[in-house]
Amino acid sequence: MKKLLVSLVLIVSMFRSYADEGMWLPLLLGKQVYDDMVKRGLKLSKEQLYSINKASVKDAVVLFSGFCTGEIVSNEGLIFTNHHCGYGAIAGASSVQQNLLKNGFWAKTKAEEIPADGLYIEFLLQIHDLTQRVEDSLRGLSGSERAARQRELIATLNAEFSDSSKNISARVSPLFKGNQFMAFVYQRYNDIRLAGAPPESVGKYGGDTDNWEWPRHTGDFSVFRAYMGKDGQPAGYSPDNIPLKPKYFLPVSIKGVKTNDYAMIYGYPGSTNRYETSYGVKQKIDIFNPSLVALREIRLKYIFEEMKKDPAVKLKLASSAASIANYWKFYDGERKQLIRHDVYRKKLQEEEKFKKWATGKPEFEHVFTDLSKAYDAWRPYSKHQVYINEGIFGSPLMAFAGTLQQVERAIVKSGGSKDIEAAAGAADKAWSAFIRSEHVVSDKQILAAVLQQFYTDIDQNQHPIGFYSSLKKDFGDLKDPATYKKFADHVFGSSFLLDSIRWRSFVRNPDANVLQNDPAFSAANAFLKNFQGKYLPLLQQFNTRNDEAGRLYLKGILQMDTVKARKLFPDATMTMRVSFGSVKGYEPKDAVTYDHATTMKGVLEKYKEGDYEFDLDPRVRELALKKDFGQYIDKQRQDLVVNFITNNDITGGNSGSPVIDANGNLIGLAFDGNYEALGHKIVFDNAYNRTICVDIRYVLWCIDKVGGAANLIRELKIVK
Ligand code: ARG
Repeated sequence: MKKLLVSLVLIVSMFRSYADEGMWLPLLLGKQVYDDMVKRGLKLSKEQLYSINKASVKDAVVLFSGFCTGEIVSNEGLIFTNHHCGYGAIAGASSVQQNLLKNGFWAKTKAEEIPADGLYIEFLLQIHDLTQRVEDSLRGLSGSERAARQRELIATLNAEFSDSSKNISARVSPLFKGNQFMAFVYQRYNDIRLAGAPPESVGKYGGDTDNWEWPRHTGDFSVFRAYMGKDGQPAGYSPDNIPLKPKYFLPVSIKGVKTNDYAMIYGYPGSTNRYETSYGVKQKIDIFNPSLVALREIRLKYIFEEMKKDPAVKLKLASSAASIANYWKFYDGERKQLIRHDVYRKKLQEEEKFKKWATGKPEFEHVFTDLSKAYDAWRPYSKHQVYINEGIFGSPLMAFAGTLQQVERAIVKSGGSKDIEAAAGAADKAWSAFIRSEHVVSDKQILAAVLQQFYTDIDQNQHPIGFYSSLKKDFGDLKDPATYKKFADHVFGSSFLLDSIRWRSFVRNPDANVLQNDPAFSAANAFLKNFQGKYLPLLQQFNTRNDEAGRLYLKGILQMDTVKARKLFPDATMTMRVSFGSVKGYEPKDAVTYDHATTMKGVLEKYKEGDYEFDLDPRVRELALKKDFGQYIDKQRQDLVVNFITNNDITGGNSGSPVIDANGNLIGLAFDGNYEALGHKIVFDNAYNRTICVDIRYVLWCIDKVGGAANLIRELKIVK
């Protein structure tokens, strides 16, 4: 393993990276990668990019609540991230009367900022390479034994590098599919407050129609501030807390971007699978993606219908609808792009090369036969799994009811009142969150629809025993949608999970019979038990075999000669990465060329009065029509640049990431990928892959001219 590691570092630094593809670990920027950055125009030293002793750019970049990226832009802990990252907090702080989501919000003083309960940020303090230690203790192990030991070891190492007294926690991330192990050490701040947000018609302009698309015209940003205790340490919310004093913050450049300008993006890409096999690609194309998309379509139909009718419902469901819709469109587009770019066949070709190389090498020659067997064994049930996660448990009531298995287990197994109390307490907490976001009218229709869809699409042999036959007996013909509606009416009409008085009494005195007789619990439980009993073990077996094959495949690739052709960086694992590239347009199809930037002119062209996605806040429209762009105007275009694109390699999790120029100044926030490259988790295509960014001048214009929040502008270090 040591040898492998040596060769790995060598590979990273030896082969030219032809730029663009690559989510590099800031710790491991080889000379070659750094030199490429410089060739592209970077003016900063390696130390300025990443250092653990001195303040460096990495200290201005935060993991935002575990699912997005943010950047510190002032000496008083001001944070920029995307609007869609702050969306839940903004909606949560809104009411129909005080609708911050709709109208925007600007704190004119720190006292006006709104605590965003549940949000937090994490600073990356250090990265430790623990490959040797992990490898030493995993040597000779494979399969589930290896997986189990790895899990234990990681838990131990996480504890070793954490220090709860300072809110410091470490998370070891297996990289290169378990061929390299790094500990990422973070410090967490929990007092985060909303300082500003544009109206939704800016922050989510174009809605789902424009989502994942270029040309784009969205002001996808929001502004938060981090606070710390008076002693300078992380602390929970308190009015006495003071603004966080950062190690470093990013200056903001309003000089504007032009084509081929250097662009660097720091952030937390969540997941990629660039070494996915042909088997995985086929599974996605044939089963996973289309199933997920069809089920989300059903759910979204009922959700949107109700949201459009009533602003209160819109606020209640906005955040969950946005995330369901976001990946509904993603998975649909991903499938289309994988097909369009013939990725399955390309994967087969790569695998043929590998197989040839592996012949006669006992460690590697069985990898693809094993994989083939693993997929054969799991394939017949893979659709079932999607129908459980995205179908049955796409009903919020079912999802909550399913969690009550824990309470049932506690009652049935122990009889120990401590366990039961703990389980009921946890369930009660979850119940409050559930009830706050539950919308019965849409959920009832979802439940009816997904139950029927499951019945029609999933092999009868796999149905939970007795469930559909008793449905037929009590409610009617299983081909008739009315049957499922009647059943859903019954569930929603009589479940105690929707009745606070009966729920309270259950929590006070948890009773297995009461739970088991509840129609919501018993339906959820029927599907869950069936899956857990018969299919979960198969899934776990499949995962173990697939992981093992993936690890060996990648280990082999790292040893193969043809590796020269590849630039090697680990797949995204929600750990900090740097990507570099340039501002660049592209040609989406024959005879069509896309510019690298969009402007206010385009915002006005898309405007549709009263439209759900393309309406505009009156103030924005007025300023735009007057061309009142102040110092934020693009002199060359005589217009306000709204969005621009670069050829950086990013993915979900990077949302909110700083886009940084050659001198280390903030020029934009990354917020999306383009449709033509939605296969990007699996393949990166130089011709098509683009990152969509909101131009920092548009962000500042919104804060300054639309919001009138000069107080926030004054905090920034603006480079003109
Ligand atoms: N596609 C963006 C991302 O995943 C999210 C955009 C949110 N906007 C929307 N219309 N749903 O980062």
